[in-house]
Amino acid sequence: MSKKLKVGVIGLAGIAKTHFPGWRQSPHTEIVALADVDKQVLRQKGDELGIDRLYQDPLDLIRCKDIDIVDICTPNACHAPLTVAALQTGKHVLCEKPLAPTPKDIRRMIAARDKSGKLLMTAQHFRFQSSAQALKKVIDKGTLGEVYHARSWMLRRSGAPTRPGFIQKKHSGGGPCIDIGVHILDLTLWMLGHPRPVAVSGVTQRRLSKQPGCYSDWGGPIPKSWDVEEFAAAMVRFANGATLVLEVAWLLHHKTTSEDMQMWLYGEKGGAHWPDNEILTTDYKAKQHSNTQVLSTSGIEPHALECMAFAEAVVEGKPSPVPAEHSLDVITILDGLYRSAASGKEVRLA
Ligand SMILES: NC(=O)c1ccc[n+]([C@@H]2O[C@H](COP(=O)([O-])OP(=O)(O)OC[C@H]3O[C@@H](n4cnc5c(N)ncnc54)[C@H](O)[C@@H]3O)[C@@H](O)[C@H]2O)c1
Repeated sequence: MSKKLKVGVIGLAGIAKTHFPGWRQSPHTEIVALADVDKQVLRQKGDELGIDRLYQDPLDLIRCKDIDIVDICTPNACHAPLTVAALQTGKHVLCEKPLAPTPKDIRRMIAARDKSGKLLMTAQHFRFQSSAQALKKVIDKGTLGEVYHARSWMLRRSGAPTRPGFIQKKHSGGGPCIDIGVHILDLTLWMLGHPRPVAVSGVTQRRLSKQPGCYSDWGGPIPKSWDVEEFAAAMVRFANGATLVLEVAWLLHHKTTSEDMQMWLYGEKGGAHWPDNEILTTDYKAKQHSNTQVLSTSGIEPHALECMAFAEAVVEGKPSPVPAEHSLDVITILDGLYRSAASGKEVRLA
């Protein structure tokens, strides 16, 4: 086998820990360098992983000539500048979700990718879950016929990550829309085959996080610096006539122990539910309903799989497993949702 691709990971405290096993399991990659602005985190991760090339300035890692892949796991506001810098020095880039919080930033990243000829992928790990992979295969065979409506939500009763990277707009770009909305929206658009979004009507709310004593099971008391939404809902129209109703929340009086993430797809031949992975059809002649289960075996952890899929795409010259154009659609819809919420009107996206 040819020599392994050298990976440098930037931003080490949180989600990066789910990427390390993927880079290590892939036959194509090895982690050679780490970067984090936090010296303590940097030292600790270096010791843990046995890596001694440690950089407090991420640009020092990006400038290393021998590094092939840069993996960006920093807060959202750093994604675009670091990705563009890495592409400009000829690196392939895997970047955590959201690819960037605004369509303008993503367009800049796409332009840098095109100029460099390197691969850029958004880390949308839900696409790599075995249940999602199995359902996607069934849907792509045309089992549902033309899908004309979807309902998707990701709702937490008390699950706001209260770190500045999430609850301050200058770092995150938004609240649950940008944090978890991108997960369920990306998954839904992928299942639908990426129809072109043309309009969105949306609302955002801040009700519970303003109440005295409000706290999050995922982060404790609500900080005063919180300046993003806690809930959002939207209706999206697509160029093919399909529609999507979307709901996201970090705080909501909703019945769930931790998180309720669901997607319903309704087509001319059948419906589908994820994550239960049921296909729902009705034989009108026989007056018979049927619910069939799409089976999937639990496979490798999806964050690890996304890294492995990216490495394989680089080595085999395949397209990006999650292209930036897909993330541009996701963020264009969410940007439209915010604009619609501010204006109280439906916003055209096309
Ligand atoms: N895919 C998922 O399931 C998932 C889950 C959580 C977070 N995320 C995404 O991962 C990203 C990071 O989130 P997190 O929860 O790991 O955050 P975190 O705050 O736990 O960790 C971020 C790390 O980045 C470092 N950092 C900040 N700015 C930096 C810079 N300019 N250069 C180098 N290092 C820098 C911080 O010191 C910190 O160690 C976010 O974009 C988030 O949306 C994805």
